[in-house]
Amino acid sequence: MAPIEVKKICCIGAGYVGGPTCAVIALKCPHIQVTIVDLNQARVDAWNSEDYNLPIYEPGLLEVVKEARGRNLFFSTDVDKGILEADLIFVSVNTPTKKSGVGAGFAADLNYVELATRRIAAIATSNKIVVEKSTVPCRTAESMRTILEANSKPGTRFDILSNPEFLAEGTAIDDLFAPDRVLIGSLQSAEGKDACAALSSVYANWVPRERILTVGLWSSELSKLAANAMLAQRISSVNALSAICEATGANIDEVAHAVGKDSRMGSKFLRASVGFGGSCFQKDILNLVYLSESLHLPEVAAYWRQVVEMNEYQKRRFSKRVVDTLFNTITGKRITVLGFAFKADTGDTRESAAITLIRDFLSERAKVAIYDPKVSEDQIWLDLQEALPTTPLEQSMCADRFV
Ligand code: NAI
Repeated sequence: MAPIEVKKICCIGAGYVGGPTCAVIALKCPHIQVTIVDLNQARVDAWNSEDYNLPIYEPGLLEVVKEARGRNLFFSTDVDKGILEADLIFVSVNTPTKKSGVGAGFAADLNYVELATRRIAAIATSNKIVVEKSTVPCRTAESMRTILEANSKPGTRFDILSNPEFLAEGTAIDDLFAPDRVLIGSLQSAEGKDACAALSSVYANWVPRERILTVGLWSSELSKLAANAMLAQRISSVNALSAICEATGANIDEVAHAVGKDSRMGSKFLRASVGFGGSCFQKDILNLVYLSESLHLPEVAAYWRQVVEMNEYQKRRFSKRVVDTLFNTITGKRITVLGFAFKADTGDTRESAAITLIRDFLSERAKVAIYDPKVSEDQIWLDLQEALPTTPLEQSMCADRFV
């Protein structure tokens, strides 16, 4: 069979993953037309804005978009046209933790993935390679295949790949330019391997072949959850040690430095902090907990759940420390929070530890001033209103302008 040549790519979802990932593909593959589609008109308008007021901030992203946009990179709300024209479709939609129903609070909400998949099935009139880019529970590709096969037009074939994204917000462009690895999961059939080869060839335009790992579909899906769970576990481990340090007089930076010098361990991800935030770590571990429980592995589920519980403990401990240090009361005291996003070099506030801390400070009736160069005042109010639906924010904060 002749190798499949990818000429047109469509990415469904113009968010923190779809946007940067496919912008970099367009930059590195000028011979491929890349269209990123999204239902959110405001987001697409921002990607298309004349003054490049992009909807997300990432160092280096602006330069990539400036070079590729209008050349072979396009942003649109016309999802159907994007699907129709593409040889290969990335599904990069959100998969948040379910808020209600079975698995609420743990399982991933796959509604957006399902809707995007149904749209592909309804619209496609030619063969497509459909790539799961979103982080999904193990075996989601199977459900996608069932949906696609049950709803497709006669003679249209779909090959499904898993290609989880390992970029870190804040360093996304560097990570995409020089990834530690690109992981592609496929069925081991001849067709699956051909689809895998087609996607590998796209990445091979700039990623060394030895860094492109090809595995089975389920291994690929699980590897993403495993990687995030193990990264978060390191953070919770060092944070747990920081509590012991504070009680004993040991210094966590010295301990972490000494531990990280071990070549089996390495020094990254060993900085004690107020706890991890962001849209992924907690969501993906809870997803793993849910998966473990569904597989009747309660000990495994309890093990991973503890990583999240330690993170909550660390945030509580930090707030309490602030109160203790300020003579056991912060009522009426002005506390300035520098940084509202979940980490540096991003404007993403999802699950930011700052939100929890500010909630705690406000419940002690402190006056809080907040500053973040990459987060708009509107976004800050929105997040606080969501976190504190019953607290009269204006009353506690109106006297304080944001710095
Ligand atoms: P996001 O919320 O920033 O972007 C998702 C976009 O998909 C939204 O703009 C939404 O409007 C759009 N969308 C949803 N349903 C759609 C549909 N049916 N048709 C068209 N557009 C649709 O989410 P983000 O952060 O980009 O995450 C996407 C996936 O990537 C998630 O599964 C996440 O776990 C995973 N991931 C995220 C990373 C991150 O750093 N944010 C890193 C690695 C993976």
